[in-house]
Amino acid sequence: MYDLAIRGGTAVLGDAVVRCDIGVTGGRIAAIADRIDAARQVIDASGLLVLPGGVDTHCHVEEPFPEGGHQEESWESASRSALAGGTTSVVAHTPQFKGGLLVEQHRAARARAAHAMIDYGFHQIIADPSDAALSEIPALVADGVGSLKAFMTYDALHLDDAAFLRVLQAARRHGLMVHVHCENYDAIRLATETLIAAGCTAPKYHATSRPPLVEREATGRAIALAELVGQPIQVFHVSCAEVAEEIARAQARGLAVKGETCPQYVTLTADDMDRPGFEGAKFMCSPAPRRAADHEGIWAMIRRGVLDVVTSDHCGFSYEGDRGKGKNGRDAAFDAIPNGIPGLAARLPIIFSEGVAKRRIDLPTFAKLVAENPARIAGLYPRKGILAVGSDADLVLWDANRPVTLTNALMQHAIDYTPYEGMQVTGWPAATIRRGELVMRDGVVTARPGSGQWLPRGPGVG
Ligand code: URP
Ligand code: ZN
Ligand code: ZN
Repeated sequence: MYDLAIRGGTAVLGDAVVRCDIGVTGGRIAAIADRIDAARQVIDASGLLVLPGGVDTHCHVEEPFPEGGHQEESWESASRSALAGGTTSVVAHTPQFKGGLLVEQHRAARARAAHAMIDYGFHQIIADPSDAALSEIPALVADGVGSLKAFMTYDALHLDDAAFLRVLQAARRHGLMVHVHCENYDAIRLATETLIAAGCTAPKYHATSRPPLVEREATGRAIALAELVGQPIQVFHVSCAEVAEEIARAQARGLAVKGETCPQYVTLTADDMDRPGFEGAKFMCSPAPRRAADHEGIWAMIRRGVLDVVTSDHCGFSYEGDRGKGKNGRDAAFDAIPNGIPGLAARLPIIFSEGVAKRRIDLPTFAKLVAENPARIAGLYPRKGILAVGSDADLVLWDANRPVTLTNALMQHAIDYTPYEGMQVTGWPAATIRRGELVMRDGVVTARPGSGQWLPRGPGVG
C-alpha cells in the first residue's frame, strides 16, 4: 500500500519518456511501474507529462541589502511563485558585506527561510575574503553549504583578481563549488561614468555600459584563474554565444567549467530597456539582455551541452515602491536602478515553450536543464532532480498543450510586475507535488509556510 499513486501519466525518466505509474511512500518515490493499484491517495495524470520538480539553483530571496532591510520577495511569496511554476527546490544566496563575516549571515538567512514552502539551500557569497571570513567556511560546510559565490562586478560585491584567487583557493581546500558572476568591473565603471557624463542616463544605457565583451573578458579571466588553482567553477547567467564560446573552449580542454543561462537570455532584448519613460527598468538585469539574434546562439550552446543548466536568477524588485526599481526616482540614472528581474514561476513554462514546444530541444533535455543538471552541480542529486526510486517525490504534472498568456497574477510572487507580461507560452504546470504532498493544483498553492526543508549539500559535480 503506497501513500500516493500518480497514475496514467507520461514520465520523463532520465533519457526515456515512458507511460507509467509512480508510487510514493514516506515522501519518496517507492516504485515506478506499468500499474500501481494499492494506494491511499491517487492522482490521475492521464494526458499529462510527469516531470521532476524544478530545481532552481540561482535565485535571490529575501536577501538583505548592505544598507539595511531586505528584498521584498519573502520566502513565503517566493515559495508560492516557485510551486505555481513547478519548482520544488531552490538554492538562494547568503550575503557577506565588505568587512563582515559569514556565520552570522548564514544563521540569519536560515532563520528567514524557516518560512519557506519549497526545499532550499544557500550559496555563500564571498565579497571580502579576509582571513577571518575564510576561517568560518568549515562551520558553513558542516551545516551543509556546498558552494561559494563570487562576483566580478557590482560596487558592493566585486572581487579583484587577488581576492577571487583567494576564494578559489578556499573553495579548493574545502571541496566547494564556485559560481561566478563574470563581468569586468572596471570596464563597466568607466563606460558608466562616460555615459552619465554625456547625459546618457536612461535605462537603455544599462546595456551599452556592459556589452558582451565585458562579460566575455571576465569569463575568460575567471576560467584562467580557476585553471591556475585547479578549482571547478560554474559561470552564472551566460547571456550570449560569444561568452559561451569561452566556456566551450575550456570544456574542450578538459577543464571543470560549467555554464548556466536563464530564460531572459532567450526571450528579452536590449531593446526592451528602451521602452518609453521608466518602463525599461523592468527588464534591467546583469548581464544585460542582448539582441534577438543572440537567442538562437544560446539554444545552440544548450544543444551542444556547453550550457547545461537554466535557472531564473529570480530577483525581487518591484517596479513601484521604496525598495523597487524606482526607489531612487523615475529620473535616476541607469546605474542607480536595482538590477535583477523576477522569474521563479516563469522559468519552466518559458523554457518548455521556447525549447520543447518549438522543437529546439527534446523533453529529456528540458528536464535535465531545469532539474537534473542543477541538482547535480548543487550536490542535490539523486535526492532531487530526477524521477527514480529512492529520490524525493518532487514532481510536476505538466499540461504540454495548454496555451497560456503570461500575466503577473499567474506568477504569484510579491513583485508588482513580470518582464514576461503578455508572452504566449505552450505548456503549463497542472499540479506540483513536493515530497509526496500535493502542494499546487490548477494554480492554487496549498503548502504550509514552514513546510520547506533545509537541504544540506555536498560538493556537487564540477
Ligand atoms: O541583475 C541581476 N542578475 N541581479 C541579481 C544579482 C546577480 O547578478 O545575480
Ligand atoms: Zn549575477
Ligand atoms: Zn543572481
